[in-house]
Amino acid sequence: MQIKDKVVVITGAASGIGKGLAVRFKAEGARGIALADMNGDGVMAVADELGAFGMACDVGDEDQIKALVAETEKQFGPIDIFCSNAGILREGDEDQPDKEINDSWQINAMSHVYAARAVAPGMAERGSGYLLNTSSAAGILIQVDSAAYTMSKHAAIGFAEFLAAKYGPKGVKVSVLCPQGVYSGMTLGREGRPAAADGMLTPEDVAEAVVKGMAAEQFLIFPHEIVFEYMKRKADDRDRWLRGMSRVREKIFPSG
Ligand SMILES: NC(=O)c1ccc[n+]([C@@H]2O[C@H](COP(=O)([O-])OP(=O)(O)OC[C@H]3O[C@@H](n4cnc5c(N)ncnc54)[C@H](O)[C@@H]3O)[C@@H](O)[C@H]2O)c1
Repeated sequence: MQIKDKVVVITGAASGIGKGLAVRFKAEGARGIALADMNGDGVMAVADELGAFGMACDVGDEDQIKALVAETEKQFGPIDIFCSNAGILREGDEDQPDKEINDSWQINAMSHVYAARAVAPGMAERGSGYLLNTSSAAGILIQVDSAAYTMSKHAAIGFAEFLAAKYGPKGVKVSVLCPQGVYSGMTLGREGRPAAADGMLTPEDVAEAVVKGMAAEQFLIFPHEIVFEYMKRKADDRDRWLRGMSRVREKIFPSG
């Protein structure tokens, strides 16, 4: 799908990848851009800069997603592209507090469910639409320093696969965005972590990969091409791959 003349919603647009997508979609000629973020002041500043519609919204709350969709449609008409991009990273193992796991689940996975419920049936009726769901390379591989991030980002990919199988034949395309390290609020101070090992990209680089991936209507969008290679290695020999992951983890947590 081309971005030109489309009505687009982007969540997590106050900073990082979401803001990068907003800037790029504006340059591509989107007709209407709605930006949402829990950081209300931050998202309004980006919206003002781009002449977009901005709205404070907690994507982990279904009613707030419904309100975002209703407001966007009031402003611009039916939504063509919904980018479910907001996410959080809470470090910890299986014993991290339930609240952190539940928050990760709501924001990184359930928000995609709420968005799909709110927009996919209408898109299917119109025979056209696009869902871009931001997962992570950690949704294909793992995040060695966060069980909650690993679980929630894997779930996001499984859910996107379900949506693609259900809605593809109805003209609604789905892509799942799987970057590794990207300079953003999330990675500030984490530059030495394994996710940065293959080089950090900018949000502009990610937006470039998204525009290309959406033009090709590719399900998996890998801004870092090496992740495709890692995915193949994992599929080829899961045990060998897991031994490699243990070595990566031991480097940052030598005591286990
Ligand atoms: N930066 C990376 O290296 C990287 C790598 C892979 C995937 N990702 C994913 O990219 C997406 C964007 O993250 P980013 O790297 O731009 O980080 P970021 O922290 O700069 O941006 C995330 C935005 O989401 C917002 N947000 C958090 N919780 C929210 C909620 N409940 N409701 C609404 N907005 C909320 C934050 O306020 C922030 O503006 C996330 O889903 C993240 O998991 C990032």
